[in-house]
Amino acid sequence: MPNHFQGWNLVRNSAIAIFSLCSLILIFHGVNEQSMRIVIRLTARTSCILFLLAFSASSFRRLKPHKLTQWLLRNRRYLGLSIAVSHGFHAIAIIGAVMLSTGEIPTDNHGGNLGYFFIIAMTLTSFSYPASFLGDRGWKILHTVGMYYLWLAFIVSFSKGLAKSMVIYLPFVSLLIIALILRLIVPLLKRATFKKSSIARSFDFKDR
Ligand code: HEM
Repeated sequence: MPNHFQGWNLVRNSAIAIFSLCSLILIFHGVNEQSMRIVIRLTARTSCILFLLAFSASSFRRLKPHKLTQWLLRNRRYLGLSIAVSHGFHAIAIIGAVMLSTGEIPTDNHGGNLGYFFIIAMTLTSFSYPASFLGDRGWKILHTVGMYYLWLAFIVSFSKGLAKSMVIYLPFVSLLIIALILRLIVPLLKRATFKKSSIARSFDFKDR
């Protein structure tokens, strides 16, 4: 995988790509509430794509050890940081929409606010000094609960769009469901295969 898609370069390049897309929307659509809403939807989708990659990295790696899945797992932290950047733009666009709107933007989005709490906490604790305050167990709990909470926030928001457009929202909803199934099933499959092969090995051993 080229160097632009590794480590901090991945975060920088995702930020540049998302910023450029948002700027194009504002240039061509003007700075108004409608463009802010488009930016909100765009950044929700870029965050979701990055989220899907980070969320499924370990399942893909376990399912198929390959250069690409190895890249995914190695860069999971940077994909997470890119989600934070993308959702930073989501937040800026929400503020922009509130400032430019006639007062219809729902700002009491408590589910979404909790999502931001997790994104900020997970971003901070992806650095070793803040992570040391949590300890290994605390870190694992925060990052596991945070990932599943974000999964929930994405699927709830995208499911609401299904009635508006199946073409746009069904792929997101389906990919989120597939990612969850993979995450839950792959460790069980691997455990079952490991058990089977160790039973086979033990019979092998007894036959000799
Ligand atoms: C981690 C937290 C959050 C996640 C994962 C999230 C995700 C999403 C998703 C998936 C959509 C639908 C995009 C689409 O229609 O394609 C969306 C839209 C939206 N979000 Fe967020 N969001 C979060 C936090 C928030 C917060 C805190 C607010 C407001 C205070 C907010 C305000 C909105 C608004 C107003 C829209 C609709 C824009 C429109 O269609 O005009 N979001 N968000």
